[in-house]
Amino acid sequence: MSAIEFRNVSKSYPGTSEPAIRNVSFKVESGEFIVLLGSSGCGKTTLLKMVNRLYEQSEGHILIDGKDTMAVPVNELRRTIGYVIQQSGLFPHMSVEQNIAVVPDMLGWDKERTSARIDKLLELVHLDPKVYRKRYPREMSGGQQQRVGLARALAADPPFMLMDEPFGAIDAITRTKLQDELTSIQKQLHKTILFVTHDVEEAIRLADKIIILRDGEIVQYDTPLEIILHPKADFVRQLIGGDDIFRQISLINVTAVMDKLSAPYRKPPNASVSDKSDLKTVLTMMLRGEETLHVVNEEGYATGIVSLPHIQKLWSPIAAKEEVKQGAID
Ligand SMILES: Nc1ncnc2c1ncn2[C@@H]1O[C@H](COP(=O)(O)OP(=O)(O)OP(=O)(O)O)[C@@H](O)[C@H]1O
Ligand SMILES: [Mg+2]
Repeated sequence: MSAIEFRNVSKSYPGTSEPAIRNVSFKVESGEFIVLLGSSGCGKTTLLKMVNRLYEQSEGHILIDGKDTMAVPVNELRRTIGYVIQQSGLFPHMSVEQNIAVVPDMLGWDKERTSARIDKLLELVHLDPKVYRKRYPREMSGGQQQRVGLARALAADPPFMLMDEPFGAIDAITRTKLQDELTSIQKQLHKTILFVTHDVEEAIRLADKIIILRDGEIVQYDTPLEIILHPKADFVRQLIGGDDIFRQISLINVTAVMDKLSAPYRKPPNASVSDKSDLKTVLTMMLRGEETLHVVNEEGYATGIVSLPHIQKLWSPIAAKEEVKQGAID
């Protein structure tokens, strides 16, 4: 049984000739981070909002933990699904703590439990509770508001999260920081996440798997590495920058190619790279003379080893195929 399943789902808005979502089927397993990627108007928000029944599909079925969402009372359904949107959606007349307490209050939690939860969540999203609990949304930056939006969505610890371009309106540096933080939060919490973006780099950085949508249809559903190396349509190839190998190396994370160490160890040797590095960073270090590099995680443990053949291996099957093609022409 999958955590989320779409079965032949279509959605047409009244008075429109083309459906916004057409016959979409896919499965998401528990704990997976799935990114919906596609250009403006392709149906990302429509798809997301059908999961928590802010919209209802015209055809097909959506199953959450095997249960048809139409058969579950809508309040019960939404209690299991956190929801984060672009402008944070915070209530402007409520302080940070009041915003986060909305769902716990609805569920009838006692004051101490809610208060402890607020502190814990603010710490999780890197906002000092002492500084921010009493603030109002207008007294915070966009990035800080998004952090509160995330904390609010996590308040009652729902197993599912829907995130609709949560970092869309945030500058590039803060955005990268929030992406890293979200990745590390996900490592602790193991939510099942559907995350919408139209930003290819963001999708590749965050996703276990990416769903590429075009005109309401799924064009490809694969891991980031598969999408970069084996785009299934010209549309996908263009989206990820064609056959530009330099762009590809800047998109692929080092953990995708490294040899994993069976027993990570504490004291990393001198020649090491962060496990957040892309292959461009790794190759740059190799060009400077480091033949083999240790890959080190946030906690300072070496978790893998990478050298040039690991990277070359990615493209060698393509090179082999090209040779065969050339041979056929000759
Ligand atoms: N309430 C609505 N009534 C009629 N048509 C709608 C409605 N909401 C969305 N649409 C149409 O459905 C299609 C998909 O819209 P949707 O908002 O899902 O796209 P999106 O991929 O989220 O785009 P963006 O990246 O701009 O947010 C678009 O053609 C849009 O015009
Ligand atoms: Mg949208």
